[in-house]
Amino acid sequence: MIKKLKIKNSGIIKLRFFNDFPDGNLVIAESGRNIPFQIKRVYFINHLFNPKAIRGLHAHKKLEQIIFCINGHFEFYLDDGHNKQKILMNDPYTGLRLGPKLWHSMRGFSSDCVILVMANDYFKESDYIRNYKEFLDYVKKDK
Ligand code: TYD
Repeated sequence: MIKKLKIKNSGIIKLRFFNDFPDGNLVIAESGRNIPFQIKRVYFINHLFNPKAIRGLHAHKKLEQIIFCINGHFEFYLDDGHNKQKILMNDPYTGLRLGPKLWHSMRGFSSDCVILVMANDYFKESDYIRNYKEFLDYVKKDK
């Protein structure tokens, strides 16, 4: 799934789990331990029945998020304004840190895909950059 990341403000987060096969897996995420911030918001995306769906297509100014694909798979496209990378998300125990200033989209969803997200802040539309040209200007200005 995630090999080597060449994108800024990203990272790989591993979750601990207890494998009680055949009685299930218990998987753990803890704020300030394997999740590198205090979690203020959790949301999930399911019912991804349209294989042509494209989600994301924005960047955040400040928000930190950790993205998990806890069932099925999807393709994550990341762009820091200089480098781009495509990552296959198909491991429920490995999350991707999606830090600020990363243009991203999510595509190629399996219909059983469930995406779980932990964020360090509440939803704020003013933190979004939804225009790619604006994103490139924002990243340039920042240097
Ligand atoms: P958006 O972040 O654009 O979804 P995606 O990146 O997966 O395509 O959010 C979709 C809609 O949901 C948008 O109108 C904002 C709203 N929303 C909230 O109200 N609260 C939230 O925590 C999130 C993530 C989205």
